[in-house]
Amino acid sequence: MVLGEDGITSFIHRFIPSATGNSSRTLLLLHGTGGTENDLLDLGRLLDPNASLLSPRGKVLENGMSRYFRRLAEGIFDIADLTRRTYELSDFVEAASIAYDFDLRQVIAVGFSNGANIAASMLLLRPHMLSAAALLHPMVPFVPDTLPDLRNKPVFIGAGLADPLVPISETERLVQLLQRAGATISLHQHNGGHVISHEEVREARSWLRQFASA
Ligand code: MLT
Repeated sequence: MVLGEDGITSFIHRFIPSATGNSSRTLLLLHGTGGTENDLLDLGRLLDPNASLLSPRGKVLENGMSRYFRRLAEGIFDIADLTRRTYELSDFVEAASIAYDFDLRQVIAVGFSNGANIAASMLLLRPHMLSAAALLHPMVPFVPDTLPDLRNKPVFIGAGLADPLVPISETERLVQLLQRAGATISLHQHNGGHVISHEEVREARSWLRQFASA
């Protein structure tokens, strides 16, 4: 796809329509730092074989690596940039729903690391954009002054107990923040680090089945 400034062309991306044509769900796939729009396509297909897949590439370059927003240092985010980029990504998803004719009410984010962080930011700033989110190895993107209403927003969180980037206390802070906003959290913790485990994929897949009737 082309790179441009507005609407659907604002992000390099892949869109893959529902394989069966009979699912109205779309997974919004958001890669980690250094990833591309191709990284999570297989994971998305594994998690929900019937859903459409929308996978944008992060536009911020850090030493040549694509990300969704700027950071000042490891784990220290440029909140103004994160805020702006969250709205920009949300606008892209809206434009894509028109161009590709998918149901904006049934978009489920699946993000890893940096992608999970901007997905969490979308939950906080543009909650109506997502019907649910699977956050794989996220941090607290920021703490908003006013909590959004996340009732009826199921959120899966995958975390590593030995993650050098995301300590257990950070995961707990995110769980508590989202729960205070009313979200229903399913937490899966594995013994490893900042990686997606097979067990985590299985758990996320069974968590996603709750949407299968949609
Ligand atoms: C971030 O910058 O979003 C987090 O530190 C995760 C990552 O390294 O991408």
